[in-house]
Amino acid sequence: MWDFTSPRKVIFGEDALEYLSEQSFKHVFVVTDPVMRKLHFHLIEKQLKAINAEITVFDEVPGEPTLQIVEKGAKLLAEVNPDAIIAFGGGSVMDSAKGMWPMWASPQDGMDAIEGLDPFGKLNLREKTSCILVNIPTTSGTGADVTWSTVLTDNSAETERKASFGNRELVADITILDPILTKTLPRHLIAGTGLDALSHAIGGYLSTWSNDFSDAFLIHAFKLLWENLTLAYHQAESGEVDFEIREKLHNAATMSGWGFGNSQIILGHALGHSIGAAFKIPHSKCIGTTCWYSLMYNKNTASNRIAELARAIGLNGNSEEELTEQLISGVKDLLGELDMPLSLQEMGVTKEKYDSEIETVIEYALNDSGTLSNPRPVDYEDYVKIFEKLFLGNELDF
Ligand SMILES: [Fe+2]
Repeated sequence: MWDFTSPRKVIFGEDALEYLSEQSFKHVFVVTDPVMRKLHFHLIEKQLKAINAEITVFDEVPGEPTLQIVEKGAKLLAEVNPDAIIAFGGGSVMDSAKGMWPMWASPQDGMDAIEGLDPFGKLNLREKTSCILVNIPTTSGTGADVTWSTVLTDNSAETERKASFGNRELVADITILDPILTKTLPRHLIAGTGLDALSHAIGGYLSTWSNDFSDAFLIHAFKLLWENLTLAYHQAESGEVDFEIREKLHNAATMSGWGFGNSQIILGHALGHSIGAAFKIPHSKCIGTTCWYSLMYNKNTASNRIAELARAIGLNGNSEEELTEQLISGVKDLLGELDMPLSLQEMGVTKEKYDSEIETVIEYALNDSGTLSNPRPVDYEDYVKIFEKLFLGNELDF
């Protein structure tokens, strides 16, 4: 038996935000960050004022969401008792809202309310709080608006640690995809977040847990991202915004999240998460490159699936091997076109730092769920070799 979990509604396209003014919310709790509050909050405020909804704004979400900020938000939720939580921002904001909700619903459990979550356990969040979750992503990348898991940082102790948790009930009731919100995205974030979405599409499609339903979302998302990412990037160079292209990227990021949330990610994310944690490299800066490494590592084991992705974007080849090689070099070219660093060195990691952290990095990678569902098994020795190559930017040859 398998399970494919989806949001109840996806509202998309031009003026999608107007959907808010068709709701009957009485009190809305908006989770956001200081930048979004300043840049675009007025767009949703206008819609909520039109229905006379009371609004409480929690705009303290940092770039790396913490358990402590989630706890603060949960306490405020208990005071406010909203009938809708609106997560308005990027992945950190949506991840924070996913933590606040179960903590609000079970205050007696403290941190255990989220840390002890079981993906399929019954939380009865909606019944307990009489509230729903509405996600409004402002970047086109994480897919966090339709996934059910998240990672939060606990910085209360001397050594910072990451706490990951998830439950299927955390998939939003409604996700609203309005491309206008991506208008102010800087060029490097269009590239980085778009590559994150591309990596979700590729990883979810190659994952050992992929299935007929996730395949449908992922292969089309991959095609949309491939066709539109460089266009949006180059347009942004000249300050141009084509909303049709932005809409395709915005939709594709959610479709990728929808797909991989119901299959899994693979080696590219295990690499990205581990170097991100140890060397403080932003996910959007490294994930495209680690995705390229995951394709090289999996090319013999998953050539049939990689070839299907290659065919979806119109590549031609006489064999699966040929198509696989074409896609791998295509991804490398894409990284170059998007001005992405191709090695840990180019990402700013020194040899000293690498040597002092590599054992921790490998431990993180081995424990990452992306290792578990990778098509080609990967062990300690494999990681030693992969990270050595990644440090220098050399292609994999084993
Ligand atoms: Fe990601």
